[in-house]
Parts: sequence; C-alpha cells; structure tokens
Amino acid sequence: MTEVNVWPGADAYRQSYADGCIQLEVADGVGVIRFNRPEKHNAMSVEMWEGFGYALKHAAGLSFLRVLVLVGAGEKAFVSGADISQFERSRSTPEQRAATAARTSAWRELLPAFPHPTIACIRGYCLGGGLALAMSVHIRLAAESSQFGIPAARLSIGYPFNSVRTLVSLVGPSWARMLLYSGMRIGSEEAERIGLINRRHAEATLWQETLNLARSIADNAPLSVATARLAVDNVLRDPDDRDIDSVAQMVERCANSEDFQEGRRAFMEKRAPSFTGR
Ligand code: COA
Repeated sequence: MTEVNVWPGADAYRQSYADGCIQLEVADGVGVIRFNRPEKHNAMSVEMWEGFGYALKHAAGLSFLRVLVLVGAGEKAFVSGADISQFERSRSTPEQRAATAARTSAWRELLPAFPHPTIACIRGYCLGGGLALAMSVHIRLAAESSQFGIPAARLSIGYPFNSVRTLVSLVGPSWARMLLYSGMRIGSEEAERIGLINRRHAEATLWQETLNLARSIADNAPLSVATARLAVDNVLRDPDDRDIDSVAQMVERCANSEDFQEGRRAFMEKRAPSFTGR
C-alpha cells in the first residue's frame, strides 16, 4: 500500500500546525487535515490536539471549502489515541488536567459543529481518543485492515460522556458496553457490521474512494447538503432541544433557490448541474 499523497499534482492551499504534526490542505473545495506523526502511530500530543483545534477553526473560515476529510499519515494508523507518554505531566493532578483540557478540548466542539460535511479516512489503528475523533465526523470510510478499540479501561481512563453518547448512537448500548468494558480491538468487517463505520474498502482504493465521495458531496447543491446536515443534527438532539422550524426554513430556502432551478434545468438538458449555494 502506498502512502497517501494528499493532492498529487494539485495546486493546493496549505497550512501546518504543531510543528507539522497537523497539516491542512485544500484543493477543489475539499479540505484535508492530516495527523502527521507516523513514527508514533499518530498518537495525539497536547500540541497536536491544540493544533487540530486551530486547523479546524481556520478551515471553518475558508469560503472555498465544502467538505473536510481527516486522515492519518503513514500506513499504520489513523490515530492511536492520546499520547500516553505525556500523561505523567499532563494528567496527574487536577490542575494539570484542567490546564491540559483548556489547551486540548477546542476540537470537541469545533469538529461536531464544523460548517461542512466531514469524512474520516481510516487506515490501521483507530483507538481511544482517535476513535472519539473519528466518531465525531459525519461519515467513516476505512481500509480492510483497520482496527478499532477503546483501551480506556486498560489505562484507568473514563471515556467522556459525549464520546460514549456518540458511540451508543452508532452501535447501540450493548456493543458500546462490550467495547468499553473489555478494551477489545475489532476489525473493519465487524466495525462495519455494527455501524461503527459506514463502509470499508481495499487498502489500495481507500483514498481514491474517499476523494470520490468528498468530491461528489462538494459538487452537490450546498443548500440541500446543509439542510440534510441540520435535519440529522436535530434528530440526534434531545427532543426538547430540537429546532424543527429551522429545518423547515431550510427546506423552503432550497425550494426558492437558484440552485433548484439549475438542478431542474440541468436534468432537462441532460448535463451536470453547476451549483453555487444560492
Ligand atoms: N501514545 C504514545 N505513544 C504511542 C501511542 C500512544 N497512544 N501509540 C503508539 N505509540 C508509540 C509507541 O510507544 C512506539 O514508540 P517507540 O517506537 O518510541 O517505542 C510507536 O508508537 C510504535 O508503537 P508500537 O507499540 O511499537 O507499535 P505496535 O504495532 O506494536 O502496536 C498499538 C501498536 C497501537 C497497538 C500500540 O502502540 C498501542 O497499544 N498503543 C496505545 C493505544 C492506546 O492505548 N490508545 C489510547 C490512549 S488514551
């Protein structure tokens, strides 16, 4: 299997954070954030969590971005979790934990609230905080050989409520308990079967399949995609917190949009539509 070359030959917009361990690249409306610490299976240091937050904030403000893909560098891992070698100085006391959380937790709000669809492209290990991260995106595609698990119980770590909630929403309480209690690792076939990932692909085609999906979303009518996202987000909220009127307003906005006219015309003229988001 070859290393992911994020944008072969493309004239991409590039930024990097955390001494290059977090990289943001955007081309053709598709943004890619790469976790780039392959020698440590992309274990996330405090600096990387922080840099990931900066990258998300930056990417969210780019007017030319329509879809965001997360990927791990190297062949071995998406993300193998938080960097355990830092725990002694980052998590030993309540003060350390508070200071660490202040630096590292921005992504927990920024990623689920990211203004565009998000996709995780997963190869190799996807563990602990790495799985929390993957579960926070909208769609997960994974290589056949990838492995998933939450080793929290092997480290006496309590997995945070929001991550457990997302896990339960994906796989149900029974599988959530089995994964959390045991710390077991499961392969991609089982992960697909229980709903932890959307689809698995051969190693050799995973990146191209991910880009194909990202580009097909980027080419679709932005207002339709935004409406779908808002509707699903509302379904996942507690019933009292839902704002169904806002979904109805977006449905109406789609119906009144220039893109609706363009979609209809393109169909009648047997050509691909060209959407603007208006
Ligand atoms: N934190 C810190 N370092 C990590 C790491 C993590 N989460 N995951 C991997 N690494 C490091 C290893 O210490 C090793 O570093 P070294 O070469 O300096 O010794 C390097 O990455 C390669 O890992 P290694 O364990 O040698 O590879 P492996 O293929 O034998 O095993 C894993 C891979 C992912 C199964 C194993 O590294 C592991 O269990 N990691 C911890 C996973 C975890 O508990 N994550 C949750 C953290 S909250």
